[in-house]
Amino acid sequence: MTTNELRQKYLNFFKSKGHAIIPSASLIPENDPSVLFSTAGMHPLVPYLMGEKHPAGTTLASVQKCVRTGDIDEVGDNTHGTFFEMLGNWSLGDYFKKESIEMSFEFLTKELNIPIEKLAFTVFEGDDDADKDVESAEFWKSHGVLSDRIQALNKEENWWPAGGKNPGPQGPDTEIFYWASDEPAPEKFDPEDDTWIEIWNNVFMQFNKTDKGYEPLKQKNVDTGMGLERTVAVLNGIDDLYQIDIYVPIIKKIEEITGLKYSDKKREFRIVADHIRSAVMIMGDRNGIAPSNLDQGYIVRRLIRRAVRFGKILGIDKAFTHEVAEVVLVQMSAVYDDVKENHDNVLNQLKAEEEKFAKTLEKGLKEFEKMSSDNKISGAEAFILFSTYGFPLEMTQELAAEKGVTIDEVEFEKEMKKHQEASKKGSEQKFKGGLADSGEETARLHTATHLLQAALRKVLGDHVAQKGSNITTERLRFDFTHDEKLTDEQKQEVEKLVNEWIKADYEVNCEELSFDEAKNKGAIGLFEDKYGDQVKVYSIDEISCEMCGGPHAKRTGELGHFKIKKEKASSAGVRRIKAVLE
Ligand code: SER
Repeated sequence: MTTNELRQKYLNFFKSKGHAIIPSASLIPENDPSVLFSTAGMHPLVPYLMGEKHPAGTTLASVQKCVRTGDIDEVGDNTHGTFFEMLGNWSLGDYFKKESIEMSFEFLTKELNIPIEKLAFTVFEGDDDADKDVESAEFWKSHGVLSDRIQALNKEENWWPAGGKNPGPQGPDTEIFYWASDEPAPEKFDPEDDTWIEIWNNVFMQFNKTDKGYEPLKQKNVDTGMGLERTVAVLNGIDDLYQIDIYVPIIKKIEEITGLKYSDKKREFRIVADHIRSAVMIMGDRNGIAPSNLDQGYIVRRLIRRAVRFGKILGIDKAFTHEVAEVVLVQMSAVYDDVKENHDNVLNQLKAEEEKFAKTLEKGLKEFEKMSSDNKISGAEAFILFSTYGFPLEMTQELAAEKGVTIDEVEFEKEMKKHQEASKKGSEQKFKGGLADSGEETARLHTATHLLQAALRKVLGDHVAQKGSNITTERLRFDFTHDEKLTDEQKQEVEKLVNEWIKADYEVNCEELSFDEAKNKGAIGLFEDKYGDQVKVYSIDEISCEMCGGPHAKRTGELGHFKIKKEKASSAGVRRIKAVLE
């Protein structure tokens, strides 16, 4: 079974069960400052899980592009990766446990022909907040599953998001495990035994966590997720993710470039393969992000630079990332239109980043050797590696760990702050080691977008809500709910208001608040899909109060003159404005 086959089989199956197939949402969440990337298929569906009507109906299925950045440093073993695709099917207040379990069972045993003996299941054991999930266990049994193959576990294991601590929609789940061995599976299921590999997670999203506790959602939803690559690996009896069909040509290309064998240098090969694949998918997304020192851009930068460093360890002494990227682009262009459209962009950005870093990498490594001769790297030294040689702090940390030397991170942070204060660009750092280089233009356009939204709400009404936002160094683009074309008078009125607010030179205030505090303060933005604890809230006088990742200008007076360049329909009920600061 190949990844293409499983992807297609899954979608066909759920289509035959009446699900609308929806395209993958962008990897870069719009309207959501609390997460950098989409990490699960349900991510873009949160408003609909909360009760909003989805235009495609109440039963949906998709393949979602996902990136989990927590795993970057783990990449190198046989299971970890940063980019992956997630197969998912949803019921938005439509079917619930019985049908969800029935369909999962049918798909696994009839479509994929997995013998029931190779399957095991977990369900939620119950606690003060929610009852034990006896129904799910009963439904599995009704399909012939023996009690010994069903285990009830606690909230850390059988609840999604795990532990149920964060606000937002959530609920108990039932997870499906596959016996990944040719030996017969033991009769009794032991979830601690690693040969049982989780392949599918059916979440019964029926609660919304708020500061008052778990409140029942308006509707009972189902959210399921199956990791595509991992499932292909286990179904093929392959215990190395990097040996499945989608990675084989990538690994081959690296063998070709290096003249080495994968089996001799697995860790380095995997890092190069994963990081370039992820970077390609992030840059090639329809909201594609180029390498930078900020937010998602910093992740892309880290991925590319780490790949280049490991390429060097493999003995590569020329620009090579584009050659590997080309393989990924061919594969993924067949699945995702945005990747296809961004083909040249991706290669150009990749080449530019590699070139930039290749120039300093060698010298930086020599410098690192010198600096670490006393078995420690001071904060000032780590900062020089960062600012002069372009080493992300994480890279210096990794080098230090490899060599067994220590590094003074606290002092590094201090150096970083000093530098940021000096260049007055420090307020937007989300990451250790990130320097705000994305430019003041972008920051100004972010602030202009907030003023634009406030002005639109004033002129057109409070039904105006952000549907999308995209900012380059040249212009802002803002999508919002509104049914009709704006009249010339309305456009002029909006421009006038924004320009008045700019003239008034208001301070742009930033606070870090919990979701609930932000909500209470009346901040606008999409609250429901937040998984982190804190959000940033930017407010401008009484005019605007919005949750946003930034960056922003310090004062509205910095913005210059605001002008709407274009106003047109974006999709049904959504208008799009392009505007500039002159
Ligand atoms: N949201 C759940 C997960 O990511 C199911 O899709 O596992």
